[in-house]
Amino acid sequence: MALSTLCLLLFLSLTGVINGAGNCSGSNTVSMDVNMLRGFTQEEYQKSIIDYWTPERIASARPMQPKIIRNGNIPFVKNHEDNEIERILTPSTILPDARVSTSPCVGRAFFTYGSLTYWCSGSVINASNMDTVLTAGHCVFNTTSKEWAKNFIFIPAYNNNSRPYGTFTARKLVTTLQWMSNANFSHDMAFAIMSPDGTGTHIQQKAGCGLGLLLNCPLNVNTNVYGYGEQTNNGETISTCAAKTQTPSILGLPFLFSIFTPNYDGSQITCNLEGGSSGGPWLQQYNATTMSGVIMGVMSFETTLAPGSRYAACFRQGNMGQLYANCQSA
Ligand SMILES: *[C@@H]1O[C@H](CO)[C@@H](O)[C@H](O)[C@H]1NC(C)=O
Ligand SMILES: *[C@@H]1O[C@H](CO)[C@@H](O)[C@H](O)[C@H]1NC(C)=O
Ligand SMILES: *[C@@H]1O[C@H](CO)[C@@H](O)[C@H](O)[C@H]1NC(C)=O
Ligand SMILES: *[C@@H]1O[C@H](CO)[C@@H](O)[C@H](O)[C@H]1NC(C)=O
Ligand SMILES: *[C@@H]1O[C@H](CO)[C@@H](O)[C@H](O)[C@H]1NC(C)=O
Ligand SMILES: *[C@@H]1O[C@H](CO)[C@@H](O)[C@H](O)[C@H]1NC(C)=O
Repeated sequence: MALSTLCLLLFLSLTGVINGAGNCSGSNTVSMDVNMLRGFTQEEYQKSIIDYWTPERIASARPMQPKIIRNGNIPFVKNHEDNEIERILTPSTILPDARVSTSPCVGRAFFTYGSLTYWCSGSVINASNMDTVLTAGHCVFNTTSKEWAKNFIFIPAYNNNSRPYGTFTARKLVTTLQWMSNANFSHDMAFAIMSPDGTGTHIQQKAGCGLGLLLNCPLNVNTNVYGYGEQTNNGETISTCAAKTQTPSILGLPFLFSIFTPNYDGSQITCNLEGGSSGGPWLQQYNATTMSGVIMGVMSFETTLAPGSRYAACFRQGNMGQLYANCQSA
């Protein structure tokens, strides 16, 4: 690694500050502003982050997906709200001129923890700032090192380094207090708020779409999952699963799952997407023509106790509802 690159990396890794008050904060919401480097214009700063992601760094990125092997110190939670009925928080907005064959709302995120490069999946949601990307909590905050992701970029409709809508850089990262403080997998969800691109265009305008959000986790409903799983061309192309959401279970038995992961507030789906699909949307009410729908969860984890299944935390008013209310205009 060239010395100048190393310096830039070290320098960039010092720029995040935890912002506990002010914009985009509130009950169960924590955020971090990505501060620009002194002496950089906004444009130069964004370019420096985009340039950081050379083809070599992209090729070296590791797929993010925590794999839970057994019940350990993972604080699963009480399913206290499971009588709530589904509720659309915001509907989708999809322009008819979607120019690519996969949903332009779904894309690939790259970021760093320490000196290591990672990728996740995410999607552009319908938000009033037109800048909001939804992903998993573990894609923005490392609960072991207590560290926010750095150098976070999002590429809508990424396909083997083709970038039909360009590359966007995060100006703010947001997750739930329960993810940050307790690695509480019932709250493994996050937003990356992106800066407008060099021409001042917001990501939601540029990609021509914003997916909706759906609260309270409908079960036994057809669901399409999208993500850049490592098993398909090392995450260079998007993969999908289509199945019905289920109550988490092992060998079909929910009580077995709850023995290992007591009171997990999430849903399960039969899906083989691997690491790197983390943060990818679970879409319901999906329309294959417009490739739109409402997101009821994001890819969170898998466990060797139930191979072939994947899990997503339920979006509730107390987590996603709060994030959206506090941050959709941040
Ligand atoms: C909120 O963010 C805007 C724009 O980023 C900024 O102008 C404003 O000062 C911020 N407000 C607070 C309370 O931090
Ligand atoms: C995880 O979140 C749930 C729901 O908000 C809460 O009841 C529980 O106490 C949390 N777990 C921990 C360890 O804080
Ligand atoms: C986006 O969501 C808002 C509600 O937050 C809704 O009023 C609006 O109609 C949605 N946009 C479209 C095009 O569906
Ligand atoms: C999170 O931080 C811990 C402690 O520094 C480290 O061991 C782990 O590799 C980090 N996780 C990721 C995904 O970087
Ligand atoms: C990706 O692009 C490279 C060269 O640009 C090509 O060799 C490779 O076959 C492509 N992979 C896929 C999966 O399209
Ligand atoms: C899907 O969207 C297309 C285009 O807007 C519309 O014509 C069609 O009726 C929709 N399909 C369903 C099942 O809603």
